[in-house]
Amino acid sequence: MGNPFEAPLVNEAVGQHIRNWRSYYEAKLGFRNHWYPTFNSDELLEGKPLPFELGGEKLLLNRIDGKVFAMKDQCLHRGVPLSRKVETYTKDTITCWYHGWTYRWSDGLLCDILTDPGSKMIGTRSNKVYPVQEAKGLVFVFLGDIDPPPLSTDLPPGFTDANRHVRVTRRKVEANWRIGAENGFDTTHIFIHKNSRLITGNQTMLPLGFAPKPNSDEPLFKIVKNENGQNGIYDMLAERGVPHFEGKVHGEVVCRAIHGGDKHIAGEISLWMPGVLKVDPFPDPAMIHFEWYVPCDENSHWYIHCATKVIEGPEGDETFGREYEALWKDLYVYGFNDDDIWAREATQPFYQDDWGWLDEQLFEADACIMAWRTLATETNRGIQTKGRPASTASGKSAAVST
Ligand code: FES
Ligand SMILES: [Fe+2]
Repeated sequence: MGNPFEAPLVNEAVGQHIRNWRSYYEAKLGFRNHWYPTFNSDELLEGKPLPFELGGEKLLLNRIDGKVFAMKDQCLHRGVPLSRKVETYTKDTITCWYHGWTYRWSDGLLCDILTDPGSKMIGTRSNKVYPVQEAKGLVFVFLGDIDPPPLSTDLPPGFTDANRHVRVTRRKVEANWRIGAENGFDTTHIFIHKNSRLITGNQTMLPLGFAPKPNSDEPLFKIVKNENGQNGIYDMLAERGVPHFEGKVHGEVVCRAIHGGDKHIAGEISLWMPGVLKVDPFPDPAMIHFEWYVPCDENSHWYIHCATKVIEGPEGDETFGREYEALWKDLYVYGFNDDDIWAREATQPFYQDDWGWLDEQLFEADACIMAWRTLATETNRGIQTKGRPASTASGKSAAVST
């Protein structure tokens, strides 16, 4: 099939799209030099390393004296995954199970080789390590090579508010991360949620979709480039668009949005770099929903679903935890967002070989998706690519001379 972006252009409009969104199209594995959430903090136990795939890179994370470290899950010697058989002889190191090369978690230094303690390699090579920070019960890893900017530059506004309690459900979705982001931010995709048990179960209402007003010049989105580095886009259709509650074919009403009640939700929807959606409020007037689309590999993403609520007082977290287990897990995490997972996985085959980006035929209501692509093209800090840069000694010759 070849590379669609190198193919002769079908028409000028498609050519313009390729020029405008080139780096977005290339970011099949996500953007480099950004912070991404990985495990929940409570999954990483002291001295029990766990592997995680991020943007096509294999990582190994470990907690030592409370602090989390991340190292490339690949031995410098013969490239095997360290996680295949974890061997840790001291708290601060990990030893490769194959020939005993031993790395320091703090900086990746090859500090010893158990099978050849006199090797000249010792102290001259380092495995790649990744900056790590924890926030609100999530372990964030900086996937990149530059000095990391503050974590806050890659968090959506409000996520770290005081007394905001967060419950996370992480699932692997068999669709590229961009299919996830575009599903979440799509103003007419709510058609798939029309029979969701959340609507009646939580006395709320969703139209079949929000469409632009005919012949209106009002912009349908608002781009935000914050001083502190957060870059995002707001969908303005709830305010400036037209909600449709009846679906018609040949002028006859064939389906109607269910009126489950009068609770107002999803008034403000925004999407932030490097791929995190904020729905405020959702699924209840007192809650805010955040969801990350974290690239795992080219054809799958980690769907990191965060239910959040501000509750003051020392009991707040426990109270929210009980509410989450009793109510929200069923109605919202699974009852509602399973629809999105299903839709993303159904979309993936069309885009998998990249021709879908050229063959798709977007309509007026997709204005927000197009604007997101532009924002992501303009504000990313780099494109994640397969393989390469790992060792800090990558320029050195592969073999030691004896
Ligand atoms: S492959 Fe790891 S020590 Fe040889
Ligand atoms: Fe959805």
